[in-house]
Amino acid sequence: MDIKNKNLLKNSCLINGQWRESAKSFEVINPYNQELIISVPDCGESETLEAIEAAHKSFESWKSQTAEKRSDILYAWYDLIMKNQEDLATILTTEQGKILAEARAEIAYGASYIKWFAEEARRIYGDTIPGKSQDERIIVIKQAVGPVASITPWNFPMAMIARKIAPALAAGCTAVIKPAEDTPLSALAMAYLAEQAGIPNGVLNVITTSDSSTVGKVLCADDRIKKLSFTGSTKVGKILMEQCSPTLKKLSMELGGNAPMIILDDADIDKAVSGTIASKFRNAGQTCVCANRIYVHESIYDTFIEKLENRIKKIKAGSGLESDSKIGPLINQAAVDKVTRLFEEAKSKGARVIIEPEVKEGLLMSAGMIADVTHDMDIAKEEIFGPLAAIYKFSTDEEMLKLANDTEFGLAAYFFGTDPKRIWHIAENLESGMVGINTGLISNVTAPFGGVKHSGFGREGSKYGIEEYIQIKYLNWNLS
Ligand code: SIN
Repeated sequence: MDIKNKNLLKNSCLINGQWRESAKSFEVINPYNQELIISVPDCGESETLEAIEAAHKSFESWKSQTAEKRSDILYAWYDLIMKNQEDLATILTTEQGKILAEARAEIAYGASYIKWFAEEARRIYGDTIPGKSQDERIIVIKQAVGPVASITPWNFPMAMIARKIAPALAAGCTAVIKPAEDTPLSALAMAYLAEQAGIPNGVLNVITTSDSSTVGKVLCADDRIKKLSFTGSTKVGKILMEQCSPTLKKLSMELGGNAPMIILDDADIDKAVSGTIASKFRNAGQTCVCANRIYVHESIYDTFIEKLENRIKKIKAGSGLESDSKIGPLINQAAVDKVTRLFEEAKSKGARVIIEPEVKEGLLMSAGMIADVTHDMDIAKEEIFGPLAAIYKFSTDEEMLKLANDTEFGLAAYFFGTDPKRIWHIAENLESGMVGINTGLISNVTAPFGGVKHSGFGREGSKYGIEEYIQIKYLNWNLS
């Protein structure tokens, strides 16, 4: 791999400050050419328990550090990440497939959470409340929740770790990270830089594994872990929640989405086309907030389709490392098979093919588009998670809102329009945790990221993100 800082490419995992190999290992494969990148330890129960013990033991001293000290270390980590941005982006593209421009953006996006929470670390303020009697004072203090487990997905292998770990460390929590099996290298590179930044031994541990279910079970069952933060599918989120119930952990669940993208008749169509492309094809369609169902008002339906078609035709699928590629490969064969299945099923039920998504070599799939999609098709119910745009027609706002909310998910929703009264009405009535209005990009550190319904709960980023890692204690001080 063509990186300057060779220390970033790790073949070991991090437990209690020790870079450890293990008897068993598994291969990390480049999804573009299916070549072996490197092998990493295939950890199981015993390594996971060691990592938990390390996080447990180091909690006392880490939570007792001054907020300023924790903040300084997070700033140092942020600086190192940005200094190594190019190498980290190359590692990310090589293991995950996304184009280099998006990988660079992800490194900056993830780093922004570390900088943000370096700032928030100093501002975990409490409260004083007038007591019930003249002799009473009520004081509210906020304390770190304890050691946390972070289970992170393959689609944003760097940013999802940063988004969970930065607030955890800022609050005084220690952590065990289990990165996705497909993309452990970004996590290990970040852990290496965390160590260089001065994060003490045991505060941050990374367990790599091909046996997610065993490691997940151990993390959930252990009472020393006080919080689980998970980003991934709704199905797995529900299993983890159940496994956490005997130990009553605090939970954050960022789960699946089925985002509607709505184009109203008074929308600026060119802006709407650009917003749809930005949302739909980010990371080759593999984000939880990708536009999954694109509803277009009947009066502009044909015009929108024509303009979108012209833009989609220009999206080149190729190696993420080549500068003219606009989308990279999908993550694995199951992802390719899923998009193909949804496309074929929709076609068999009458969807109109505008651009056929073609499976090129390996896991590369070209961008596709279908229209006249309806809610009796599987594609309306499932996350596509691939480069296929599905267009639906609507005629009234009430019909459109009913369709948009006709899903168990509620992560993101988007719409384009201009009338302020109508904008308020739609924004307030969409059942989702996040709404993009005249934009297809809603993810940034200043905003609370998270969903409702079966998309989960908890918020990441923004002034709210720190609350997931603190607990409130109140002191009732009797002065008499
Ligand atoms: C996700 O797909 O889970 C996260 C996407 C984002 O942060 O924008």
